[in-house]
Amino acid sequence: MPSPLAPAAAATPVRRRLVLLGTGGTIAGRAASAQDNVGYRAGQVGVEELLRDAVVDPALEIEAEQLAQLDSKDMDHACWQRLAGRLAHHLERGEVQGIVVTHGTDTLEETAWLLQRVLAPGKPVVLTAAMRPASSLQADGPQNLRDALAVAACADAAGVLVVLAGRVLAAGDARKQHTRRLDAFDGGDAGALAAVEEGRLRRWRDWPRGQALGLARLPAELSRWPWVEIVVSHAGARPESIDALVDAGVRGLVVAGTGNATVHAALLPALERAQRSGVAVRLVSRCAAGPVLPSPEHRWPVYATLSAPQARVELMLEFMAGAIDARRG
Ligand code: SIN
Repeated sequence: MPSPLAPAAAATPVRRRLVLLGTGGTIAGRAASAQDNVGYRAGQVGVEELLRDAVVDPALEIEAEQLAQLDSKDMDHACWQRLAGRLAHHLERGEVQGIVVTHGTDTLEETAWLLQRVLAPGKPVVLTAAMRPASSLQADGPQNLRDALAVAACADAAGVLVVLAGRVLAAGDARKQHTRRLDAFDGGDAGALAAVEEGRLRRWRDWPRGQALGLARLPAELSRWPWVEIVVSHAGARPESIDALVDAGVRGLVVAGTGNATVHAALLPALERAQRSGVAVRLVSRCAAGPVLPSPEHRWPVYATLSAPQARVELMLEFMAGAIDARRG
């Protein structure tokens, strides 16, 4: 029994700890057979169980929390808002060294970009995932989770990071490039920021930094999140889809253009009409990699290095700042 006079807090040194937030995905998926890597349901296995299966370094003190349990193709703004809020809460805690988020691969790059822009954390927030379900004979989730925890435990790490198949990618560079491969993500021209090798980090570039837009940027009422859609420019493109979106009340359009963000001639008048009626138009390239270079052909602002789903997030954040003049888009 400790003496009532003893300073309990001082006697018990505070250990640096990690937080693990589960949101679902294939990493938490389960199939009827251990040989089935395709016919499974994502978001079935609880985050505590994932942690047990990963057999992590016992020196790590980890708090696990189930934030959601979904297939990330169904990711929505409500879940993003909850996730950003929980992360902000845990990042504020002095004893928390870093945070790992388990997530589906399908929308991971857009979640990562939203979190980097809103939180730009000075501590590591590491998103990890898997290409095979937890029930697989050769599940990749446990190793990815161990690697993600190793990165989150790095004292100098910072920013929103993506860890998969031994690679550490910055949120803005991460792209899902393959439907099946275990190393489905890469970092485009920028490449990986670091590698995790047997639990140790080999780093080539700086951690992502940036100015946090702040949690207050995300409206509490979901109905105030602006409606922004992605339109792809392609052979035989027709303008009716753009007119229909404008008639339905869309506020922003990200056009995934060909090559250097060029747009089919058939879409241009509809986009001009959209802009005149107050819809904001932004351009990106539909190419899997490479920046968009400035060109006189661009009639609207360009997000030069973002993927189309990340650009959609960026345009929503512009609206949320009130940065867009409704008349000029
Ligand atoms: C998902 O994105 O939730 C399912 C697919 C995956 O995680 O690979």
